[in-house]
This record gives sequence, C-alpha cells and structure tokens, in this order.
Amino acid sequence: MTQPRPGGPAMARPMVIAIDGPAGAGKSTVTRALAKRLGMLFLDTGAMYRAATIGVLDAGIDHDDAQAVAGFVRARHIDFTDAGDVRLDGALLARSRLRSPETTAEIWRVADNPACRSHLVALQQALVAGRDAVVEGRDATTVICPDAQLKIYLDASPEERARRRLSEWPGDKPQPSLMEVVSSIRDRDDRDSHREVGALTLTDDAVHLFTDGLALNEVIARIIAYAVQRQPFLLEKLVLDQLIVGRSRQPGYVRVAPGNLPGASDGWQLGLTNPAPDRMPGTTRSLTRNHGGRQAGTLVQGAAILCLAGRGPVPEHVVALPMLPQTWYIIEPESWHAVIQAHGTICAWAESDRIIEERFELSATQISELESFLGVYLPH
Ligand code: DC
Repeated sequence: MTQPRPGGPAMARPMVIAIDGPAGAGKSTVTRALAKRLGMLFLDTGAMYRAATIGVLDAGIDHDDAQAVAGFVRARHIDFTDAGDVRLDGALLARSRLRSPETTAEIWRVADNPACRSHLVALQQALVAGRDAVVEGRDATTVICPDAQLKIYLDASPEERARRRLSEWPGDKPQPSLMEVVSSIRDRDDRDSHREVGALTLTDDAVHLFTDGLALNEVIARIIAYAVQRQPFLLEKLVLDQLIVGRSRQPGYVRVAPGNLPGASDGWQLGLTNPAPDRMPGTTRSLTRNHGGRQAGTLVQGAAILCLAGRGPVPEHVVALPMLPQTWYIIEPESWHAVIQAHGTICAWAESDRIIEERFELSATQISELESFLGVYLPH
C-alpha cells in the first residue's frame, strides 16, 4: 500500500560508500552486511585481486616476470555472480581457494603491479558506474571512487585483527601463534601502505572508524548514521515499501511538546508515539503496534525521525528518516515502529483514534544499534 511521495519521488545521485582499511579490520563482514542492509551492490575488490592471482598461479607463466603477469592479467575479465561469487573469465572460483593462505601469500604479484592495478580499477569502476554501491578495498576511497559520498577507513588494533584472523583459521591447517599472526599482519600493512600505486591511505575526508570492542551491528549502525548525514534521502528511499510518506494537509494535525520527560535521566529514551493528545509519549523501551489511525514520529533534535520498522510479527530493523520542512511521515497501519526520545529534544505526535496498543520489548541488540546510530547522529 505504498503511496507515492507528493511532488514526485526524491531524486538523488547514486550513493557510493567506499570502505578502506587494513587486512583483518572486519571490512569483508561489515561491507557485505551493510550492502545487504541497504540493498546496495557490494563490490569486494580484494576478491578480484585474489581471482587474478589464482589465474596467474594456474596459467603456467613465469611468476617473477612482472611484464608477463601484467600481460596475462590485463587480458582477463573478472566479475561477480548475483550471489556474490567471483568469476574469472566466466568460471566460478571456489571461496576456499580464494581466501586460502597460499593465495594470500602470492597476491603481491598482482597488487604491486601497476599495470595489473589499472586494469582491475577500470573493471571495478565499470561495475559500480551509476549504481548505489558499497565498495571495499585498499584504494576504494582514493583511486576507485575518489568522489564517493561517504568514505570510511575501517580500523582495528593489530592484536584484535590477529584474534579475528585466528578465529576463522581453516580447521585443516596448522594454527600459528597470535604473535606470528600479528607479525604477518604488520608486514601486510607495511606492504599495503607502501606500494607505489594504490597504497592504503587514510585520507582527510574519510571517517576513521575503530572497531575494537564493537559488535557488527554497532559498526553498521554507525556507518548508516554517517551515510544518512551525507544523503538524507537514503533511508527514506529504502523504507518506502514499509512506510507511507506523506505531507500533512492539516497544519494542526501534529502537536509539539517539550521533550523532557518526567523521570528521563538517561541521555536518550525510547518513547511510544501516543495517540491521545493529552498524554506524553511513554518512557519505556518498548513498541506499540498501530492498528488504526495515523501517527507521526518523534523529531530527533528537529532533524530526523528514528523508528523501528517492518511488517512481520516482530520489527525488523532501525530506520531513520530525515525531517524535512513541511513533511510528516505517516506510519503505515499495522507496521511496527518505535521512536526515539532524545533527552531535551522536541517530540511531536499526531492525534488519532482507533489505536490499539500492543507492547513489545526491544532486544539488547536493537537497543545497542539505536545507541550506536544516535552516538553518531546526535553527538553530545
Ligand atoms: O581484502 P582482501 O584481504 O581480500 O585483499 C587481498 C589483497 O589484495 C590485499 O592484501 C591487498 C590487495 N588489494 C589491493 O591491493 N587493492 C584492493 N582494492 C583490494 C585488495
């Protein structure tokens, strides 16, 4: 029952989120999950270097001859299936071989070769051209997508990265010690940041995001918050199938009240949108299910509505919608939503009737996700 936005759809140029960072900082896991969450193309550029390396190893050419390696790689086509598996000249490559330590040890033959890099960069740019995409690599922010709207440098301490590497070490391979992995990570960092072309670089316009101690969903919520800051229409576009976005034709429809709730001592609180005009939103971390009327959400510092959305028996995810002048977001009957009451902010809600409330406790994961989002979106 999605209604078109009055005045036509919001047009925005494709959004590119470029993510660089050292090996083992969690880039693959984070970017894959982020792209899925945002419904964007995921481009794993490291997989393309891995695929080219496997091609070189199997081709029977002299690996030490940089010109022969370049000639071979520049004649290859590398792309991905819809399921995200990498293909070398149309042939699928097994994930286990792609990420094997043997492949990793030889990647430098391709990655340090400028002629190979320029070919792979051209393929990567063609894959993302005109599309919303999350691009992951070492040179995503600098060479592949220098104009990306959002650049993230995902980082973690060498020890944390070594622990993560060991936790996914193949069971059939002898495990090195933590210190051995730390030392090989430092070597790889050195190589990645000192190559002549396409070196890993933290640029001034990138967000330096340290992931030590953060759960995956917290990292993702932070990146989404940065993305929304840069392109406010992003989330609106993504949740259009869940929320009806409308413009109020009745100026008196929404009441505005101070957001200082009795007993609200935390920096932020979840509140229920409340249909009754004489009641303030509740202060509990729970949701209400709207079976009838129309409700507006809470304004977050006058900038956004943050809500949980979804149509199923439980809410699925957190969304934030920018609060644009003269625009009210009307939540679809029977969809789930909770709104954020940030301490000291203004809240607004619509008068309505025929509301039945069902209460629903938020999970710890959902709460940490909201806190992560707010930590970026509403810095104190
Ligand atoms: O992200 P990954 O571990 O799959 O990357 C494998 C190697 O490929 C990495 O050591 C450096 C290289 N690489 C690169 O040079 N440029 C990229 N854009 C991606 C990866």
